[in-house]
Amino acid sequence: MSKKAPNMPSMPTGSSCAMVIFGAAGDLTRRKLIPALYNLAHEGLLSDGFAIVGFANREWSHEEFRNQVSKNWREYLQGESNDVAWSWLVERMYFVQGNLEQSDAYSRLSKTLAEVDKTRGTKGNYLFYMATPPAYFGTVVALLDEKNLVGESDGRWRRVIIEKPFGRDYETACDLNLQLLRHLREHQIYRIDHYLGKGTVQNILVFRFANGIFEPIWNRRYIDHVQITVAEELGVEMRGNYYDTAGALRDMIPNHMFQLLALTSMEPPASFSADAVRNEKVKVLKAVHPFKPETVLRDVVRGQYGEGAAPTGERLPAYRDEPLVTATSVMETFVAMKLTIENWRWADVPFYLRTGKRLPARVSEIVIQFKHAPLPLFKHVGVDELSANQLVLRIQPEERIALRFGVKVPAATMEIGEVDMEFSYEDRFGKVTSTGYETLLHDAFNGDATLFRRADGVEGGWEIVTPILDVWKTLPPREFPNYAAGMWGPTVADDLLARDGRAWRRPA
Ligand code: BG6
Repeated sequence: MSKKAPNMPSMPTGSSCAMVIFGAAGDLTRRKLIPALYNLAHEGLLSDGFAIVGFANREWSHEEFRNQVSKNWREYLQGESNDVAWSWLVERMYFVQGNLEQSDAYSRLSKTLAEVDKTRGTKGNYLFYMATPPAYFGTVVALLDEKNLVGESDGRWRRVIIEKPFGRDYETACDLNLQLLRHLREHQIYRIDHYLGKGTVQNILVFRFANGIFEPIWNRRYIDHVQITVAEELGVEMRGNYYDTAGALRDMIPNHMFQLLALTSMEPPASFSADAVRNEKVKVLKAVHPFKPETVLRDVVRGQYGEGAAPTGERLPAYRDEPLVTATSVMETFVAMKLTIENWRWADVPFYLRTGKRLPARVSEIVIQFKHAPLPLFKHVGVDELSANQLVLRIQPEERIALRFGVKVPAATMEIGEVDMEFSYEDRFGKVTSTGYETLLHDAFNGDATLFRRADGVEGGWEIVTPILDVWKTLPPREFPNYAAGMWGPTVADDLLARDGRAWRRPA
């Protein structure tokens, strides 16, 4: 087999490097990272000078690690699998056994990396991936530094990808940033949010800034309000341990939901450089009107699912009966809130956000609700009966964009109906098989941090939600569970909009 990755692409291949995966025996590695690396290899987007070094506390040799990874490797791939690309990847895999907290393991890692540099041509460039529980992030980075593995010199780069959760609130996020910055420079830290790896999420920027017609109406003059929904059909599965200490607010809002909010509401960046884009995202988060205890009580609602039924009729257990969840848990599995952004573009335009588990469908979408036409020309129809234009950016499960407008229904009388003009990614471009991690890894190999979060972006997200966490801590919910599994959340979420004369869009 040739030494090149199969299917050489027109895109640049990743630069030569060794990717070290801490937590190589874990779920994230098996389900996401290895399939994503395979997809990159298959597309020819990895350099010939590429290697993977797995790190875990298992008594495995390099060969045993390769065998472990090769067991059922096809299971987590969505597209076709190709043995040639797989062998190309597997022969570049190495393993270091070690405890994350023991310094001698890092001496072994250093030795293996030096060997890999020689045999695989990885040129001393290392990407460290923290697929570990967050409690280890600081320790691992400190021990890497102790062994001189994170210092950049002679043109060699060293980067670290940090998984979420990045802190539990504003203070812990700032602490973690400080810990990391003791050993790394900001440009070496890649804080990952897998939502930014989704093609349609990236497309929000393209849609807004590569087209001339939307930006002029993307503001308070034309937009009535914005809704952002990330609904999940699944419950907490086997993650009750983690989820019962996090809850829907921490799990989804300061990260995924605020990324969607920022991309939808930010000003056009001066360029597409990582810092220009991230500056604008941070600016808009800073403009979110801060919550006070009274506005938390008025504008933020929470819910927890009780027993219920899926749309198929299947019985679903209550959150409190899920594995690894406390039987008296008061953790929220649903949250909805109303936010305002205090700048000239968005003054007085509410942004409604909601996310939850065990809702009727898995749907993520952004709804831009435009204002009504200003003048009731069609008197007998009544302008209030006409729906206002609506733009829906559907992120998942299917990726599409739909614009709703009114048309004359074919008839002798003047009747007005609504139609959707729709664009579907799959219809136009075919099915793309991706774990969502391919773009992010490829960017990290090439030193492009645009789609990763900067320290101030992470802190900005926590700054908004920390007052909510504080109020909730002092006022535990008394009415949980307050929605049945398989329903669209608690009624208080509907009230949040009804009070403003609005309603959530029921995703079609
Ligand atoms: C993760 C959360 O970050 O995102 C999970 O921890 C959630 O609780 C998941 O299910 C949602 O991601 P996706 O890509 O399935 O929408």
